[in-house]
Amino acid sequence: MHVSIKRYFVKKPIKAIQKESTAPGLKRTLNAMNLVSLGIGCIIGAGIFVLTGKAAAAHAGPAIMLSFVLAGFACIFAAFCYAELASVLPVSGSAYTYAYATLGELAAWAMGWLLILEYGLSASTVAVGWSGYVVSFLRDFNINIPPEYANPLGLLLTNPDGSPMLNAAGEQIKGIFNVPAFIGILGTTWLLIIGVRESAKVNNIIVIVKLAVIVAFIAIGAFYVDTANWHPFIPPATGKPGEYGFDGVLKAAGVIFFAYIGFEAVSTAAQEAKNPQKDMAIGILGSLAICTVLYIAVSAVLTGIVHYSLLNVPDPMALAVDKIGIRWLSFVIKVGAIMGLSSVMLVLIYGQTRIFYTIARDGLLPKFFSTLHPKYHTPYLNTAFIGLIVSLAAGLVPLSTLGDLVSMGTLFAFAIVCFSVLYLRIKEPKLKRPFKTPMMPLTPVLGILSCGYLMYGLGWTVFVNLKLYFFAGIALYFLYGQFHSKYRKAS
Ligand code: ALA
Repeated sequence: MHVSIKRYFVKKPIKAIQKESTAPGLKRTLNAMNLVSLGIGCIIGAGIFVLTGKAAAAHAGPAIMLSFVLAGFACIFAAFCYAELASVLPVSGSAYTYAYATLGELAAWAMGWLLILEYGLSASTVAVGWSGYVVSFLRDFNINIPPEYANPLGLLLTNPDGSPMLNAAGEQIKGIFNVPAFIGILGTTWLLIIGVRESAKVNNIIVIVKLAVIVAFIAIGAFYVDTANWHPFIPPATGKPGEYGFDGVLKAAGVIFFAYIGFEAVSTAAQEAKNPQKDMAIGILGSLAICTVLYIAVSAVLTGIVHYSLLNVPDPMALAVDKIGIRWLSFVIKVGAIMGLSSVMLVLIYGQTRIFYTIARDGLLPKFFSTLHPKYHTPYLNTAFIGLIVSLAAGLVPLSTLGDLVSMGTLFAFAIVCFSVLYLRIKEPKLKRPFKTPMMPLTPVLGILSCGYLMYGLGWTVFVNLKLYFFAGIALYFLYGQFHSKYRKAS
């Protein structure tokens, strides 16, 4: 390879990564149950509490259940690949570091850039979902946030039945800024700056609350299902791309793929697992399986209680409970959603700050991203910067635009992870792998194909947005990263 091109493929030595990862204090304390709980804590969030309703209303109808199955498959293949890489390279920085060790610097930067969608922009998406439940909760206490200030700039607002929301002058109301979502992220950022992290104990409590709320919704809601609402199961295609028909089911699978994001967190705990070879598989598959079953059941009950065409609201589960008229359950669901979504925001922004921290230490981002606060020992400038961008995105951009871009970017990142596993097996066959992806090479190949299929289903517009975003990142690397890379200088 020509020397000037070769420098873009400079790799971070695996030995150096493993050395960085032998941080003192990390003990193998997590058993299979802890890992399953960790996964569920990160997975269940705005996807199920909000996007399910929107995806059913706009794309799949009751067949949203099928969309959950499709998206679940793509996740399982990718999850095994994540687990293998995490067991070889158990470090912070996740897929960014895997790419640095296997595919080289440019690919690593591209991966880091994609991870901003998976973590940072995901947090904005979750904040918008959180805002929907907060507004609904406050409304129950007669505290009404004007809809303009609970929706993004320029969004034409509609009532739950799809009719335009009008002001006193008879004009359709437009969103201005989603204030609760903005405040939610700023609050989370502040907690992270002063060093509040979710402990395993708090995670366990939140997981129990989330599970209890969801199981209660399913168990009680099941008695109020009107099976007529499930017909037709797949509403006939309207001819518009992604609007009902199988095309709609596929589009919805891409949209609600968002609901599964978070299981990678299990893989990043490989170094703390007591028995990684067995327990990682249980942790990943267990959390994914539990969430898949719950998601399918929630979507069945939701579309069985409320006709899918009415589900395009910020708080669909609360809407369904309000319809059956059990006031205490509506209250419990709102509180559970608000608590659960808060914890997901915290974990996502935390993840984003640590990824930037790792990238800055490698020299590809300016040093201030890795500067620690003298008292709190947190990367405070980095956290404040991320908090500001993420909160503005949450305030200004509609949920579906955010969620679609997150799903597309994450699917792309997952496909790269699957590819890295294949590549590393060929390049470094003797490497010690505490966890091995089963059914090689079928699993990563199916992972790449299924992620690609869901990306295709999300549609061309989202792909164009991703492309613009992606090339902006590559430009940034050529303007800054390539001149400051630590490993390039060392090579
Ligand atoms: N899977 C997470 C959620 O649904 C990101 O909020």
